[in-house]
Amino acid sequence: MEFSRELLESESVKTPDATCRLTLHREDFSALYPGMLRFVLDAADPNRSPARFITNTYEYSPLLPGSAESAARQMMAIWKEDLLRDPDVVFHEYSRPRKDRPVRPIDLLILQGSPRPDGNCAILAEWAVGAAHEAGKTASVIYPHDLDLHPCIGCYQCYNTGTCVFDDDMNDIIAAVRGASLIIVCSPVYSNTVPAGLKLVIDRMQAFHAERALGGGGRCRHGLVFSVAGRKGKGNFACITSVLSAFFHTLGIELAGEVLMDDADSVRDIRTIAGKEEMVKALVKNHL
Ligand SMILES: Cc1cc2nc3c(=O)[nH]c(=O)nc-3n(C[C@H](O)[C@H](O)[C@H](O)COP(=O)(O)O)c2cc1C
Repeated sequence: MEFSRELLESESVKTPDATCRLTLHREDFSALYPGMLRFVLDAADPNRSPARFITNTYEYSPLLPGSAESAARQMMAIWKEDLLRDPDVVFHEYSRPRKDRPVRPIDLLILQGSPRPDGNCAILAEWAVGAAHEAGKTASVIYPHDLDLHPCIGCYQCYNTGTCVFDDDMNDIIAAVRGASLIIVCSPVYSNTVPAGLKLVIDRMQAFHAERALGGGGRCRHGLVFSVAGRKGKGNFACITSVLSAFFHTLGIELAGEVLMDDADSVRDIRTIAGKEEMVKALVKNHL
């Protein structure tokens, strides 16, 4: 995505051992979110690796005093003082985030949303893994409910750096999504939507959306939705399919197919439905 960039301020500061250049830019991110602006403060010194501070307007919720621009200008003033005294304070604390991000290449990645390791979604996931292996492909299943994941706090700082402020198991999930060719979200219907653990992953995937928006790119991928509802009737999937297609859209993944199995509380074990396993496996193989 292309964003326009405008220089707001620039200044040279004589530090004890060099001349440091400070710049403050405003970047217009409204192509991503209405009215989003980023303020990017950079410090460049011939003897040190660059320092950077970024803040964006979405970080400042209505009751929060101040603004992104005032915070960036305030930081510039603090940096000027610190550079005169001890430049290492600035360059150590604000060294630019690493650009290289781990990628784990895999043919099929399944996000298995059911907290029940032996339920119908687990059976669907097992069929999908079986299909991948039969086709000589690699596959992996992620169970969000077993992981250490903090809920998204809506801080919007991922749009500054392309990474989340939390350092937990979501890093591994994003690394897996980065390298996956086909992604299947496999989820029971809970209160018309996805279970809490999977919802948490969906929200935290905002950091991956930010990474892509900031230039992470990513390969062209396909996604499938597998879902199981206890109640009878395809209407039980109206909300979950809308949530999951929005999720794929946010990640730049094309939704290529769905398997929606209702009445599961009466059927109990979907392995008793004739032809289902073959149908699911054929769909998976078709998209690998
Ligand atoms: C907390 C909770 C909420 C549920 N909400 C719905 C619902 O809104 N609609 C529905 O059809 N089934 C609902 N169900 C039933 C599950 O979708 C159904 O039992 C499903 O087969 C479970 O999948 P699993 O075997 O993979 O765990 C709910 C089940 C639980 C535990």
